[in-house]
Amino acid sequence: MANVDFSVRDSFGTKAGVIAAAAGSAIGLGNIWRFPYVAGQNGGGAFLLIYLGFILVIGFPVMLAELSIGRRAQRNALGSFKKLAPGKPWYLVGLMGVVAAFMILAFYNTIAGWTLEYLAQAVGNGFNGKSSDELKNSFEAFQSGTFRPVFWQLIFILLTGYIVFLGVKKGIEKYTKILMPLLVVLVVIIAIKSLTLPGAREGLVFLFKPDFSKISWTVILDALGQATFSLSIGMGTLITYGSYIQKNNNLANTVLKVTAADTAIAVLAGIMIFPAVFAFNIDPAEGFGLVFIVLPGIFEQMAGGYFFGILFFILLAIAALTSTVSIFEVIVAYFSEELNMTRHRATIIGSVALAFVGVFATLSFGPLSGALIFDKTIFEWFEYLSVNIMLPLGAIFLVLFVGWYLGRKNVEDELTSGGSLKVKLLGLFMIVVKFIAPIAITLVFIYGLGLIGKKDKKKSEPVADEQAFANNTFLPGRTIELFT
Ligand code: PFF
Repeated sequence: MANVDFSVRDSFGTKAGVIAAAAGSAIGLGNIWRFPYVAGQNGGGAFLLIYLGFILVIGFPVMLAELSIGRRAQRNALGSFKKLAPGKPWYLVGLMGVVAAFMILAFYNTIAGWTLEYLAQAVGNGFNGKSSDELKNSFEAFQSGTFRPVFWQLIFILLTGYIVFLGVKKGIEKYTKILMPLLVVLVVIIAIKSLTLPGAREGLVFLFKPDFSKISWTVILDALGQATFSLSIGMGTLITYGSYIQKNNNLANTVLKVTAADTAIAVLAGIMIFPAVFAFNIDPAEGFGLVFIVLPGIFEQMAGGYFFGILFFILLAIAALTSTVSIFEVIVAYFSEELNMTRHRATIIGSVALAFVGVFATLSFGPLSGALIFDKTIFEWFEYLSVNIMLPLGAIFLVLFVGWYLGRKNVEDELTSGGSLKVKLLGLFMIVVKFIAPIAITLVFIYGLGLIGKKDKKKSEPVADEQAFANNTFLPGRTIELFT
């Protein structure tokens, strides 16, 4: 470790490395754990459609805006605003990003820890011979425990800290380039198995056939939150990564590839999960545990399932790790550049703080499940505030900054790498960042939060139960109280 040199600003080595690192950030638990569970709770097809719309109209421009800011300023999320808009309050957007990074990590590490537990179970052949009810019970027993979930969470924090300490190029680029494509291959193989299960068709109908009666403003806000979360936008992760991208990189091209890869994996994860959900008679609105209950069931029925199970959870843990690394980098880059800490010190202080706060999120499923603040557990508050509030809010300010403050000339200079690249549709991009994206996000926000108009009925478990009864998929004995 002594030969790690931090005296020069780190940067990504190659074009493929940039895409791998940004895709590594985007592709993670958001695609494989969160997308199916949120889509399942929001009625499937209609949610998917809105989600895809947001990726196109909001995801793409916000990601491009973030990378442009970072590369132009060559600083961390907060420092970038200070440099580009000195003496102006824009830096507060960066500050909100650092806070959001902390909150996301606090709950993300909990789920990342679950992937390690499931890896250990896969190695120990723990899914073998279990019915879906038994898989569900063993998930709930694990998740509501104390020692194991906290233990795995802490291990994950250590792994993240270690890679971030090593630095961007050495740590991140190397792993993502090989492992993310492998994850895609595996998801496709598992999806094919899932599709061949008896009764699987219903799952595809659920995922792809929009039932417009399911749409409400809360569903729309959930889709917006999920789109921003999944693409890692709205909090400066991609400002930070943008600052490590070389000047000749074609940012629009990078964004196109990363967005396409991220979206494809979320949809593939849906194709992997929902057919099995219906084949196994599981409620699609099951919630946080959905993939952890469904996937072992697929492995259990699959030729070579033991091997695939292990490989899958290794890759899922790594996908989570390349995302936690990118989020933690926001905090460490801020600490080291703005608060003048060494990278080493910043990593240690950040990790210890995260361990303290994160434990409360993890214990929200067990000993602290009764500690509700306005109907939500600590975990749920971290998730809700960061994903549904801070990321969309950050996204609004990011596009406004690029559209109105940086302005067309600077944006053109950045996107064409100083005039050497040809970029199409620049005029459209400016209209989107100046008007369309900020207005659209603001509207979703205002209505989704019920600030204007009638507040939507809160999604509540009884509704999910009624639906499950109607679909004949209701399973008695669910311990849903944990989640409410
Ligand atoms: N996009 C990551 C995922 O889908 O798992 C999560 C994430 C990473 C969110 C980085 C936000 C972020 F800045």
